[in-house]
Amino acid sequence: MTIAVRRAGLADQAACIRIFVETVTATFPHEPDAGKTAAAYADSVIGEEQWVALIDDQIVGYISVYWPTNFIHSLYIVPGFQGRGAGRALLDEVRKRAKGDLELKTDKANARAFAFYRQLGWRVVGEGMAATGPWWRLRWAGGIL
Ligand SMILES: CC(C)(COP(=O)(O)OP(=O)(O)OC[C@H]1O[C@@H](n2cnc3c(N)ncnc32)[C@H](O)[C@@H]1OP(=O)(O)O)[C@@H](O)C(=O)NCCC(=O)NCCS
Repeated sequence: MTIAVRRAGLADQAACIRIFVETVTATFPHEPDAGKTAAAYADSVIGEEQWVALIDDQIVGYISVYWPTNFIHSLYIVPGFQGRGAGRALLDEVRKRAKGDLELKTDKANARAFAFYRQLGWRVVGEGMAATGPWWRLRWAGGIL
């Protein structure tokens, strides 16, 4: 098995839409369907830089970053390919490029993602409440792997 990461281009958008819809549908079953569409995907990546992860040449996930605030807005690995290192590879790619501390938010209900980030060294720096439920704000300090 090989894992590769590269910048996402226009030609990758159809794959990213499929990954977004499938992954949010599986991960957030109780959230409204309006947040699980191609339109919701398009809204979520405006102004952001994206990378895709490939396992054996197949696009299996993406990460999307809003650099003005060093904020990782999205990280999704399609369910059938989770747990094989693609999520870590995408985070590593962004961490290599970060000029300062990185932050992201994750739903408190998403215990699996929280455990994943904590294991990779992310620390809780805040919390809040959205229409979809409570969330944690996490920070990764540094710019060197
Ligand atoms: C959360 C997510 C991005 C993680 O990506 P992944 O490719 O499945 O995770 P990886 O295989 O890269 O795991 C990297 C490390 O985290 C660890 N890890 C992964 N899931 C974990 C869990 N549930 N608990 C503890 N550690 C975990 C792995 O063991 C691995 O460490 P290791 O290499 O030392 O074994 C992915 O599962 C996903 O997209 N989930 C659904 C959508 C989601 O929740 N996105 C995040 C929203 S904030």
